[in-house]
Amino acid sequence: MIQPQPALFRPFHLKSLTLRNRIAVPPMCQYSATDGRVNDWHVAHYAGMARGGAGLVIVEATAVSPEGRITPACLGLWDDAQIEGLARVAAAIKAAGAVPGLQIGHAGRKASAHRPWEGDDHIPAGDPRGWDTLSPSAVAYGGGLPRVPREMTLADIERVRTAFVATAQRALAAGFEWLELHFAHGYLAQSFFSVHANQRQDAYGGDATGRSRFLRETFSAVRAVWPERLALTARFGVLEFDGRDEQTLAEAIDLSRAWKADGLDLLNVSMGFSTPEARIPWAPAFLAPIAERVRRECGLPVASSWGIDDVHDAERVIAEQQMDLVMVGRAFLANPHWPLVAAQRLGLARPTWVLPAPYAHWLERYQVR
Ligand SMILES: Cc1cc2nc3c(=O)[nH]c(=O)nc-3n(C[C@H](O)[C@H](O)[C@H](O)COP(=O)(O)O)c2cc1C
Repeated sequence: MIQPQPALFRPFHLKSLTLRNRIAVPPMCQYSATDGRVNDWHVAHYAGMARGGAGLVIVEATAVSPEGRITPACLGLWDDAQIEGLARVAAAIKAAGAVPGLQIGHAGRKASAHRPWEGDDHIPAGDPRGWDTLSPSAVAYGGGLPRVPREMTLADIERVRTAFVATAQRALAAGFEWLELHFAHGYLAQSFFSVHANQRQDAYGGDATGRSRFLRETFSAVRAVWPERLALTARFGVLEFDGRDEQTLAEAIDLSRAWKADGLDLLNVSMGFSTPEARIPWAPAFLAPIAERVRRECGLPVASSWGIDDVHDAERVIAEQQMDLVMVGRAFLANPHWPLVAAQRLGLARPTWVLPAPYAHWLERYQVR
């Protein structure tokens, strides 16, 4: 009897792209760059996960301007000289059979921080490794990120929007086929949307239309230069777990519908992380019902992550059409051959993708325990 193909291993088609399965590696900062530039670590790291069988590998948050880096060790693409290194990464991902993706963003008031393993907190004022931060309003995030940002002028808004566009053009030149705008996780764009961060009285603040303006304008400006045949996506926090989630979700769904009309190809559904007071109900695959609601109410393809590392959970959220792609993060760091484990546990006799010959000879006969 022929076994039905697990949902996780069905190809996914978006625009001119075909992902060989529904398994994506979400962006994960490596905090290993100098002056925003790629080095051998990045190439080996991303190539390894693509070789492991992911359909899509999205390279970490890459800053559109120097002050948009989360830490001094984050990647950047604000300069043409940074294209070449990222082109090596994109080529290595593609050569291993995955679609090469890049996340671009601006860290806003969460910028100028130490690396996670060096404290994850703001670099103190006066320390030459740090820099002044920008946000819609002069309101600090709080907790370990107490630095008060400078309120952006209209000229700052224009400059950052233009930086997103120029960075998208460089991403295209580097060979990326999937662009994800980082509009999530309490960084600059999410701060415009969030009532926790945005207290502006002008057209970029106030009601949901005002708080969505920067995100819509930036998206449309990038859409105008990113080719129609390639994927233009966004990662966006649709709720905060701050006690006002129904209202935030309703506003986020309205914005996502508007983005769809403006040409968004897929939404990576995530959380806002705009306040240290959030009470997040961590559990395996806990965002899946939220992703499903966004998918259904917006009619957009969606991806999501956060604790979807159990193979059977991953298969279920795809089979039940809660999402179109599963983003598997830390489990991929633990085992870049996570898709092989998934294939074996879901009863596939052989991987549906071509493992590199020096691995295939051994791994296709080896049952991971
Ligand atoms: C080391 C590390 C770095 C991360 N960097 C980013 C990033 O650059 N951009 C982003 O949107 N999310 C980032 N995240 C969040 C992940 O994309 C993902 O959503 C998170 O790890 C939850 O998925 P998981 O439970 O499968 O690990 C990072 C997570 C980790 C563990």
